[in-house]
Amino acid sequence: MDYKATLIDILKEVPELKDIDLEPIIEIPSDETRGDFAMPCFVLAKTMHNAPQKIAEDLQDKLDIAPTFEKVVAVGPYLNFFIAKNVLVKNLVKKVEDEGDEFGKSNMGEGKSVVIDYSSPNIAKPFHIGHIRSTLIGNAIYRISKRLGFDVTGVNHLGDYGTQFGMLITAYKKWGDKEAIEKNPIDEFLKLYVKINKEIEEDPEKRELAHEWFRKLENNDKEAKEIWQWMRDLSIKEFKKVYERLDIKFESYNGEAFYQDKIPSVIEELHKKNLLVEDDGCEIVDLKPYGLTPLIITKSNGTSTYATRDIATAEYRKETYDFYKNIYVVATEQNLHFKQLFKTLELMGYEWAKDCVHVGFGMVSIEDGSLSTRKGKVLYLVDVLNKAVEKTLKIIEERNPELQNKEEVASKVGIGAIKFQELYNQRIKDYVFDWDKTLSFEGETGPYVQYTYARANSVIEKSGITPSFEDIKVELINEDELKLFKEINKLPRTLVDAFEKFEPYLISRQLMQVVKEFNRYYYNNPFISEDKNLTKHRIAIAELVKTVIKSQLSLLGIKTVERM
Ligand code: ARG
Repeated sequence: MDYKATLIDILKEVPELKDIDLEPIIEIPSDETRGDFAMPCFVLAKTMHNAPQKIAEDLQDKLDIAPTFEKVVAVGPYLNFFIAKNVLVKNLVKKVEDEGDEFGKSNMGEGKSVVIDYSSPNIAKPFHIGHIRSTLIGNAIYRISKRLGFDVTGVNHLGDYGTQFGMLITAYKKWGDKEAIEKNPIDEFLKLYVKINKEIEEDPEKRELAHEWFRKLENNDKEAKEIWQWMRDLSIKEFKKVYERLDIKFESYNGEAFYQDKIPSVIEELHKKNLLVEDDGCEIVDLKPYGLTPLIITKSNGTSTYATRDIATAEYRKETYDFYKNIYVVATEQNLHFKQLFKTLELMGYEWAKDCVHVGFGMVSIEDGSLSTRKGKVLYLVDVLNKAVEKTLKIIEERNPELQNKEEVASKVGIGAIKFQELYNQRIKDYVFDWDKTLSFEGETGPYVQYTYARANSVIEKSGITPSFEDIKVELINEDELKLFKEINKLPRTLVDAFEKFEPYLISRQLMQVVKEFNRYYYNNPFISEDKNLTKHRIAIAELVKTVIKSQLSLLGIKTVERM
C-alpha cells in the first residue's frame, strides 16, 4: 500500500490543494513523534491566502483521513499525519506473507531492460582487492534491479584487449612456461607481467616488440590469437572461481576484444558525422567546447583505444538489449573517460546517450599490510575471502564450539561480512578496509545482522511453535512492535530509492534500523510466556523479521544461517 499516494488523494479533496504538486512537498519526519508524514504549510500561504499556522489548524479539522490515517495534528505551520495502526500492521503482514523472500518486489521495471557493466577486470592482470568494489556494488545493483522487475543483463566487460596483451605475449614467448602457467595462471601471468614491465622500463625500445604483438593480434595473426585465447580462457576460469564464491553470475562475458571487428564501422561513422579531427598522428574527437579533453579514437600507430571500443560497446548494447539504462560500475578514477564517452555518443546523435550512467565509487585501501607482501605487491581478492572465512571460523570456534557445519556457516558469515561492509557506505567515499571492524559480531556489521536473524530463529525453535502470520494480532501490538513495523515498512520505498540513486547502502542502513529495533524489542519483551496467544503473536513476529532480514540481505548478495 502506498500511504503517501493515499495521503495525496486525501489532501486533493481540498479544492485549494487540487492543483498543487504535493508529492515533493510532503516529508517523512526523522522524528517519529511527528508522525509518518508531515506537510509544511508555508507553500500554501499564497494560494490559501492565510498564515501557514492558520492553514495547518484549518486543515486539521477539515481533512477526512480515515481509515488509512488515525490522527492528524497541526504543530505550528506543519501538519503531522499518523498512519492507523491496524492498517499499517495488516498491510505489512500481508505484504511480507505475499512477497516472502522477495519482500519489496515490484513491477516498476516491467518491460524495461537494464544493462549493468560491472567487475570487468583486466585479465592479464591479477584480480585484486581493488576489484572488490565494482564487483560487489555492481552485483547489488543487479539484484536490486531484478527485485524491481527489470530485465537485467550483467556484463563482465573484460579488459581482454589492448597493448598489455602485446606485452604479455612478448613475455610469454620469451620466458613463458606453459605447464607452470596452466597450474597457476594468475600468479604466473603476474610474474611475466612484472618482468616485462621492468625490462621495458630499463629499455624503452623493447616496447616496440609488445606493440608488434598487439598489432598482430589486431590483424588476426594465428599465433597471436591462439596465445591470447588460451590466456583469456585460463583467466576466466580463475575469475569464475572467485565469482562462484561470491555467488555472482554474468549473462555476458563480452569484453573489449569482442568489439574489435566493430571498430572500423565506428571510425567510419565518426568520420561521416564530421566528428574526427587529426591531431599529431592521432584521430580524436574534440570536446573542448564542452570543457573536456579530447577523446582519442586511434593512436598514432593506428591501433584503437579503450574509448573506441567503448563507443562500439554502447552501440552494441543499445541494439542488442534496447536498454532503459546502461550502467557502468567503475571507479571515479574514470570519471573523465565516461564524461567524454557519453558526450561523444550525444554528439553522434544518439538520444539514448542520456540513459548511460556512470556509477562511480571511491578507493579502498587496506590497513593490514601483512597479506600484501606475500605475493608481490598484490592483495588478491580470493585471499581476502579466504582470510575472512578463516577468521570467522576462529570466532565461531570460540563462541559456539558445538555448532554443526561450522565451515559452511563461517563461509556465509565471513563472505557476508565483507559484502556488508562494502555496501554499508555511500559508494563515493573512500574507505579503509579493517578486518576487526568487518568481522565483529557487534556494531553495524554483517555478522551482527546475521546473528540477529539466527537469534530470531533460535527463539522460534525454543518455543516449539510453528509460526503463522495469522497469529499477529493488531490488539496485541505494543509500542516496541509498532516501532519495529514502521521501520520495516520503510524498506520497499528504500529499495526504489536505492535503485534510483544506484546506492545499495540505503538498503543496508535501513535494514540496520530494522535489526536494531528488533533487538530492542527482543530485550524489552519476553517472547515466550504463560499467555499462549501473546507467545504465538511474538513468535510470528520473529518469523516475520526473519523473512524481512533474509529478503534484504539477499539484495546485497548475503546468505543467512539458521544458527551461528
Ligand atoms: N577493465 C576496466 C578497468 O579495469 C574497466 C572496464 C569498465 N567498463 C567499461 N565499459 N569501460 O579499469
